[in-house]
Amino acid sequence: MALLNIINYPDKRLHKIAKPVEAVNDRIRRLVADMAETMYAAPGVGLAATQVDVHERVIVIDVSETHDQLLAFINPEIIWSSDEKKLSEEGCLSVPGIYDNVERAEKVRVHALNEKGEIFEMDCEGLLAVCIQHEMDHLMGRVFVEYLSPLKQTRIKSKMKKLAHAM
Ligand code: NI
Repeated sequence: MALLNIINYPDKRLHKIAKPVEAVNDRIRRLVADMAETMYAAPGVGLAATQVDVHERVIVIDVSETHDQLLAFINPEIIWSSDEKKLSEEGCLSVPGIYDNVERAEKVRVHALNEKGEIFEMDCEGLLAVCIQHEMDHLMGRVFVEYLSPLKQTRIKSKMKKLAHAM
C-alpha cells in the first residue's frame, strides 16, 4: 500500500469528471487500498479518486467511530434521494481547515460495486448520506465550497493560495 498525494482546491484537476471503472481488477483494488490508507492517515472520513488525481468513479468512506468499517463504492449512483433536506457542516481533505454548512438530501439510496465487483445497494442517512453525496460531487468535478457564496469562495481561494505558498 502507498500514501497518495491529495490535490488541494482550487487545483483545476479537481474539476475533471471521472469515468466509470471498466473492470474491478487488481489495479482498482490497489487503488481502493491506497485511497483507504491515504484517507485514514489524513485523517478523514471520505475520499474520492478525483482527489488523488485518478479520474475514475471510485470512493472510499469510513464514518465509524472505530475507523474499521471501510466502505468502497465503485461506479456509485444515487438511485433515490429523500425530499427532506438537511443542513450540516462539511469539510474536505482538499480544502484543509475550511468547514461550512451545505444542504443535502437527508437520505439517499446508493447502487454501486464493491472491491469484488459485486453489485450492492445501500440506504444511507446521517453522516454517511452527507459523505456519499460530498464524494460523488468530487467525481463530477464539484468541490463543496462551490455551494457557498461567491464572497466565501473568493476568501477560501486566497486562503488556500497562502497555504500553498507557506508549504
Ligand atoms: Ni471532499
